[in-house]
Amino acid sequence: MRTHDVVVVGAGLAGMRAAIAAHEAGVDVALVTKLHPVRSHSGAAQGGINAALGNETEDSTDNHTFDTVKGADYIGDQDAIEILCQRAPLEIYQLEHWGAVFSRQEDSGKIAQRPFGGAGFPRTCYAADLTGLVILHTLYTVCVKYDIPTYEEWFVTDLVTDDDGNAVGVVAYDMIHGTIETIGAKAVVMATGGAGRVYRPSTNAHASTGDAMGMALRKGVPLKDMEFMQFHPTTLAANGVLVTEGARGEGGYLLNKDGDRFMTKYAPNKLELASRDVVSRAEATEIMEGRGIDGCVMLDLRHLGRDRIMERLPQIRELAIAFAGTDPIVEPIPIRPGAHYHMGGVHVDNWGAAPHMPGLFAAGECSCVSVHGANRLGGNSLLEAVVFGARAGEASAAYVQEHSAAPKVPSNAAAETQARIENLLARDKGIRQSEIRDELADVMQEKVGVYRSGPVLGEAKRTVTELRERFQSVVVDDKGKTFNTDLIHTLETGFLLDLADCMVTGAIARTESRGAHSRTDFTERDDENWMKHTLSYLDDGEVRLDYSEVAMTKYEPQVRSY
Ligand code: FUM
Repeated sequence: MRTHDVVVVGAGLAGMRAAIAAHEAGVDVALVTKLHPVRSHSGAAQGGINAALGNETEDSTDNHTFDTVKGADYIGDQDAIEILCQRAPLEIYQLEHWGAVFSRQEDSGKIAQRPFGGAGFPRTCYAADLTGLVILHTLYTVCVKYDIPTYEEWFVTDLVTDDDGNAVGVVAYDMIHGTIETIGAKAVVMATGGAGRVYRPSTNAHASTGDAMGMALRKGVPLKDMEFMQFHPTTLAANGVLVTEGARGEGGYLLNKDGDRFMTKYAPNKLELASRDVVSRAEATEIMEGRGIDGCVMLDLRHLGRDRIMERLPQIRELAIAFAGTDPIVEPIPIRPGAHYHMGGVHVDNWGAAPHMPGLFAAGECSCVSVHGANRLGGNSLLEAVVFGARAGEASAAYVQEHSAAPKVPSNAAAETQARIENLLARDKGIRQSEIRDELADVMQEKVGVYRSGPVLGEAKRTVTELRERFQSVVVDDKGKTFNTDLIHTLETGFLLDLADCMVTGAIARTESRGAHSRTDFTERDDENWMKHTLSYLDDGEVRLDYSEVAMTKYEPQVRSY
């Protein structure tokens, strides 16, 4: 059996940043990833990463903290948000020193910063509209330099615990060789990204199937705030591909079918740069009330001019031409809100440690610290990935240094997974995973979207329950061992179903509107009853909810307007 001090599952921004921090703290750390690291979904992040550098303005970490608390609709943990914002400039300079090529101010040569939604100052550092990709490649070069062992194209199926309930490793399917392997560890850091593929369309990569959340949930670790799913205001209708908020940050307008700049009505001060939940609701309302065009509204960039578009937004021009047949230099892009980011995740503390399972850590979108509360600000996701990735790496290394005994990995860990997979492969009749996945994504899109209501959420719950039952007779047509993507997609679909149930159950229970959770039957925020985090558990296959307190420091809840 292979063993390491720390095993990091997932090699996007959070995973690689965690591995680098653990390595620098002097422990033996390995990455395990179902993709090649530079294919991770972090590479799809376009517009930028927030830090109050104050290069062009009098911005401060206090301003960044307040904007994030407000953006989160007051349910983010304020102590965690303070940590996020205070460490932000250090992480940006660290990335720059490692070689990240951020766009620069023309005159001073300092890192340029663009305005983003819900932010009081231009605070978003960027590399044109390829920021995630640039940071991903930068971190990969550091991992290569440090020679961090990386199990590429190994799909982690299970978290392994010892008799006392400590995390002591993972079981993984080596996709190339078709074998099931155990990797023992004194600490496990989960960083597999979000679960955006519960929806379709989605800005998320096909690999964003919430694996870490699914594995943790099945081991009794609660997931936090699963009802909060963010819809990004500008996605392409054809396939949900992201059109960065940076396009509005650079000055883009949103127009309805009459050519009205409708955000004047919904957010008179911040207009297109209100926070994402506000802009997405405005668009959904315009479309529902008949002022859209073929289910979309228009993003108009023409007034920015060719040079600015080519310099700052070259990728989104290419994407708009390829997937919408529209060149933004000469015509507006049809866009609509699309599933983008999941605020919920594995319940962890400010060091990324899971209080319910010693030795387990999580960082990035699969975790919920919680710094995003009910609505994340654009540019805070890459930031969270590097800040809390680094902290989880540091904390897992410290944990290993305190718990130096060899992990007590049960000898049957891989055998159990092997038997489960062999049973699955032995079935020759049943429903295909793709059918279940499509039905699931459709019901989530239609019934657990920008606007929700109790009765419609109830219908979604019934469908999800039925799909979970039908999944018991899922069939894997490909019986082969190597690169069995049919098998992998089936295991992923199992995770997606459990997570969808948590999302819907949490959404039914939360009888208020807060951030991205907007109920047409409970239209107001209800601080008296709902200023609390939702915790979801899986008890004998049924989702059970509990609640925990929100950490407040100095920001009293206020009416949230933009
Ligand atoms: O719009 C964007 O570029 C996305 C950024 C983010 O989600 O943080």
